[in-house]
Amino acid sequence: MSGHEQGHAAERPRARSHLIRGGALLAAVAGISSLHFVTDPSRIVLHEVYNYLCYVPIIFGAYWYGAWGGVAAAAITSAAFIPHIRGMWIHNEAYSASLYAQVVVFHVLGLTVGLLVGAQRRLTARYRDAATSLERANRELRDSREHLRRADRLSALGEIAAGLAHEIQNPLAGVKGALEIIASRVKQGTPEAEFAGIGGRELARLEGLVGEFLTYARPHDPALRPADIHEIVERVAALLRAEAERKAVTLVFERPAGLSPLSLDAEQITQVIFNVVLNGIQATGAGGRVRIRESVEPGWGVVDVIDEGPGIRPEHALRIFDPFFTTKPRGTGLGLAISQRIVIAHRGTIEALPGSPTGSVFRIRLPLPDSVAGAS
Ligand SMILES: Nc1ncnc2c1ncn2[C@@H]1O[C@H](COP(=O)(O)OP(=O)(O)OP(=O)(O)O)[C@@H](O)[C@H]1O
Ligand SMILES: [Mg+2]
Repeated sequence: MSGHEQGHAAERPRARSHLIRGGALLAAVAGISSLHFVTDPSRIVLHEVYNYLCYVPIIFGAYWYGAWGGVAAAAITSAAFIPHIRGMWIHNEAYSASLYAQVVVFHVLGLTVGLLVGAQRRLTARYRDAATSLERANRELRDSREHLRRADRLSALGEIAAGLAHEIQNPLAGVKGALEIIASRVKQGTPEAEFAGIGGRELARLEGLVGEFLTYARPHDPALRPADIHEIVERVAALLRAEAERKAVTLVFERPAGLSPLSLDAEQITQVIFNVVLNGIQATGAGGRVRIRESVEPGWGVVDVIDEGPGIRPEHALRIFDPFFTTKPRGTGLGLAISQRIVIAHRGTIEALPGSPTGSVFRIRLPLPDSVAGAS
């Protein structure tokens, strides 16, 4: 259903309720007037009761449609009431006068009730707005508490990791040297050579891990220089081409023209995009695609990495940027934590959104050069 049709569908019940209310008001006025006309003038008490009943449609008119509704209902009621005064009470001057006074009261009442109802409604709307903005403020507070909690943990963890990684690096270098000497002395093709090879590979992995630790724990400030995000995406694609082919995943680029150079640390942002695209490839099944879309929003250069994986489980959503959170057997859980640190140091944002219809979208926003100047 289009937005236009939806608008019409919402109008229909409202129009029907106006029709019902209008009909009820007219029926009430017509009913009371007929009672006046069919009741003998000698039954004055009954006529008094009908006079008071006339206030009912006026009050409802004012309640439903405000001051204008009240006055309109009073006018309609009067239009039915005045012929009755002239027809039945023309010879009783005092009583006629009191009935005319009642016609004036109809209008005053309709107007007053309508104005009061209007004021009350405005007050209610103000309270409702206040409640909504309070709710929003509350939500923002909760979010920022969550950020603080994470930042706190990050800094404590950063110190431990930095110290530990540093201490590990030296013995690691020693072991690596020793292993190289052993490897150079054993004969190729022997089991010893094979073990030395395994040792070497595992050591390299450990070195990589320690390196990542240090990047995470001791982030250096980004060295901002004008750089083309487009070239960075190309570089990442070249680095990950083999991985994508191995998993039979196609990398697709979408880039509308006009994304001007951003002010960034190309090496760090390469690492961010690399991590996110690699996650996308890992999540996507064979035959699927990972799309990398560059775009511009007011104040931001945006890179979306869109995968066709299973998406992020709701219970993981709050944790994927936490250091060491991983669901992969050989993952370190540092990829997104490092990426988020780098992006924040660039005064940008990174967020995970649900993909459509499946998968996930990682949206990286980096400030356009003007807004960096404006922010500092
Ligand atoms: N595109 C994605 N689709 C689904 N889940 C994802 C995606 N990207 C990240 N995740 C989830 O977030 C977790 C953390 O990701 P992160 O990149 O930080 O670590 P990792 O990929 O597990 O390990 P590492 O990147 O250090 O090798 C992942 O283990 C995975 O559960
Ligand atoms: Mg990863």
